[in-house]
Formats: sequence, C-alpha cells, structure tokens
Amino acid sequence: MDLSVQEIAADVFRIAHYAPQLDFTFNQYLVRDEAPLLYHTGFRKMFGETSSAVRRIIDPARIRWIGYSHFEPDECGALNQWLALALDAVVISGAVGAGVVLDDYIGGVARVLQDDEALVTGAKRFRLLSTPHLPHGWDATLLFEEVGATLFCSDLFLHAGNPPARVESDIVGPARDQLIRFAAGPFAHATPWTTRTAAAMDRLRRLEPRTLALMHGSAFGGNGGKMLEGLTDVMRDLASKDML
Ligand SMILES: [Fe+2]
Ligand SMILES: [Fe+2]
Repeated sequence: MDLSVQEIAADVFRIAHYAPQLDFTFNQYLVRDEAPLLYHTGFRKMFGETSSAVRRIIDPARIRWIGYSHFEPDECGALNQWLALALDAVVISGAVGAGVVLDDYIGGVARVLQDDEALVTGAKRFRLLSTPHLPHGWDATLLFEEVGATLFCSDLFLHAGNPPARVESDIVGPARDQLIRFAAGPFAHATPWTTRTAAAMDRLRRLEPRTLALMHGSAFGGNGGKMLEGLTDVMRDLASKDML
C-alpha cells in the first residue's frame, strides 16, 4: 500500500493508505492537541504503517482518545493494537457501539458520549453525533470538531482513486459515481435511505462544516454544508431508483 500524510486543516492530519487493488484510499485522522485524538484506526494489518505515520507527527504512545464511526475493520480493526501501544488511550463511542460490540471487543470500557455531548481535548472541542444507519450500521456516530468546524464523516462522500489529500472542488460528483458503481455490484445497499436519513443529513448541513474529513478519497475544504446538501439530493434520487 501507498502511504501519505498531510495536514488538511490546522492540526488535523490525514494518514492515507491507497490500496491499488481496490482503487480506494483508507484515511485515518490524527488531531494534534494536548490530548491527541485518532479518528479511525485503520485495518489491523495497517497498524505498523499507521503508527509509524503518527510517529512523524507525535509520539504515538501519547494518543489519548480513539474514535470511529461504526464497527468495521477499516474503522477500528487495529483498536486493540493501539490500546496496547497508547496505554492512556480511551475509546469514545456512542451508547449502542459500546454496549453492542465495543466493550466486549476491547475487554474494557469505552467512554460513552451521548448524542451531542462534548469532549474537550485542549484547544479542540468535539461533539459526538448519533447517526444510526448513516453512513451504515446501527452503532454509527460521526464526530464534529467545533473550533475548526471539521466534520469527521466516515464513509459519506466515499470516492475512488488516489486523489489529493485535500480538495476545494466538488466531491459530490465523484461520490455519486461511486454509489452508482456500488449499486451494480456486491457492495450494493451500503448506505440505506431511511425515514430518518434526510433529517440526519440536514443536521450535519446545519453545522456548516468547513472541512469534511472523510474516510475514502480527498478531504474537502470549503462550504461543507453545500456538499452535504448535494449528497442528500444524490442519495434521495438514487434511493428512488432502488440504487442506494
Ligand atoms: Fe463503513
Ligand atoms: Fe470505510
């Protein structure tokens, strides 16, 4: 895998593994602060590369908080390796994630944040957003960093290729193309459109994020609300054609 590390917003570093066989990047985010936070651990097999990438920025043993959206190996596969390396690290999660899978998986206790509950890490202030089934998974949550207006939005806006670390150009078109490719293959119906999806997307839009720190593809800098509105329209349209 091809690895790149770049600061995409103040003290927010995108650590991207490009997997050529899948033509996707898998992005982890390190937020440098008094209490550093890692969002997504990446796969277990990526741990060596991810931890050495973190080491370029901070001592990985200093990671204090680890977050992810939903229980999948690209989100949290290396969680136990991280907990063994960063002994003061605590996993943050919504109540469903902690109760259904996480506490058992780590053999410990996650710090549960309720919907909209804040976590201050020094200069940064995060807010956990409970988003069941968005992008997918009952346990799904997203994370919003309020000071820099960065939304950690997991698989939303997933797009293919090995594009630049951060773009200011449209990411809705590439995300739509990928959803259409998924619809025709074994990964169809990855992101469901439910009776709550439009309201959940609108809540994200109203946060007015200036950075979208997404998991697969380029991070986006600019009017994040406009991108979220565009993605909502795409999802609604594809759902109406049974393609979501
Ligand atoms: Fe996922
Ligand atoms: Fe993912």
